[in-house]
Amino acid sequence: MTPLPIEPGPEDRAALTEAVSAFVGRHLDRLTEAPVFHGAADEALVEQLLHPPDEAGLDIDELLGRIEPALATGFDTASGRFLSYIPSGALHTAALGTYLGAALNRYTAGSHAAPGLVAIEESVIRWMTSLFGLGDNAGGILLSGGSLANLTAVVTARSRLGERFDDGVVYTSERTHHSMTKGARIAGIATDRVRLVPTDRRLRMDPAALDAVMAADVAGGLRPMMVAATAGTTDTGAIDPLDRCADLAAAHGAWFHVDAAYGGFFQLTDRGRTRLAGIERADSITVDAHKSLFLPFGVGGLVVRDVEHLVDAHEGRGAYMQDVVDGDLPHYLSMGPELTRPNRGLPLWLALNLHGVDAFRRTLDSMLDLAGDAAARLADLPGVELITEPELSIVAFRSTAGDDATARIQQALNDSGRIHVSSTTIDDRLWIRLAFLSQRTTAAIADEAIELITATMTEPGG
Ligand SMILES: Cc1ncc(COP(=O)(O)O)c(C=O)c1O
Repeated sequence: MTPLPIEPGPEDRAALTEAVSAFVGRHLDRLTEAPVFHGAADEALVEQLLHPPDEAGLDIDELLGRIEPALATGFDTASGRFLSYIPSGALHTAALGTYLGAALNRYTAGSHAAPGLVAIEESVIRWMTSLFGLGDNAGGILLSGGSLANLTAVVTARSRLGERFDDGVVYTSERTHHSMTKGARIAGIATDRVRLVPTDRRLRMDPAALDAVMAADVAGGLRPMMVAATAGTTDTGAIDPLDRCADLAAAHGAWFHVDAAYGGFFQLTDRGRTRLAGIERADSITVDAHKSLFLPFGVGGLVVRDVEHLVDAHEGRGAYMQDVVDGDLPHYLSMGPELTRPNRGLPLWLALNLHGVDAFRRTLDSMLDLAGDAAARLADLPGVELITEPELSIVAFRSTAGDDATARIQQALNDSGRIHVSSTTIDDRLWIRLAFLSQRTTAAIADEAIELITATMTEPGG
């Protein structure tokens, strides 16, 4: 075989692209009926796949042939049958945007390097800041996901306290995503300066408890640094009382952050906008396009009311960057932890513009419908308890017979290969979560999930 040139010519390029595209096509065509759960990989396969790169190059078909069995391991997060954790729809149109961004490889960290591509990315950021009503000084940055966005938010809030911040306190709920407390830890905030505020019956931060703990801290000489509310918790989709949290943050001069990684883009829908009321008062909002905009993994972001705060917290340039020219478009390198970054704007921009915003609104609306219907049907099943009515598109339920019975339902669903669900622990009890957030999850799949649960419950020992 003639070795593939390190810079392939037009024919090789076309053949490679065609082979990869055909492989993806075959996989996607089978996705709806393929098992969502394959179980652990066998040891021999893992051993083979751990093989280091060969000295001489291999044929693309040979390499795609190695990916094939690798795909048949674990669970398939791209399947519409995947209702675990927070699904990520992996819009094919966005995957093509990722391909465009990587293949063209223009540098978007500084706007002087590719003003046109930065303008494309900025069009999406501005669409988001206006969606949340953040005002004229708003801006933001696309990051790898919710974790980096929450970290960037804590660093921004912390920087307002100056270099010494040992007296600064972060407030978030006991159902916060762990990336919030992890972000605080990475940002150098001591564990005893992070308050996990209790939640109410519906697992939303209790504003009276927040008020009390903030007042006690201030009386003790501490400075409230940040109130981090969640708009759609990972466990159950609960939305903290955003207006009340905003009031309390404002009363104490604290930064008001909303982690809307999961729930944020429900703002596009009428029901979501009503439930997220108060989000427009945030100083910063974590959004995650690889959750509620169905993008492939790797595109989240932080939008802020006043972009100057992001720059104050993150500006830093080496002497070799003296040729960076400042203009009207932002330099993302000054606004977050990364310098060089992949082009996250193109996948988002391409998908939003190819489908149109209304397609996203309708899909999110249908996710709310699927969750509402599933909750109603589960509530009617004898022996099933819901934790609460779903606020967004996650339904958490358990068997009233206890944790063992609940675990058996989860196992039966996952072993079936037809539906995959994950679980959580709340109040020391096990709950199964059904998370509807993939454009590939249809009403037929949701029906199948409920039918499987029903069948499992009525089996002897179920
Ligand atoms: C509410 C919330 N915040 C933050 C994150 C972290 O996002 P990522 O996994 O994109 O880092 C998640 C992930 O599930 C989440 O649900």
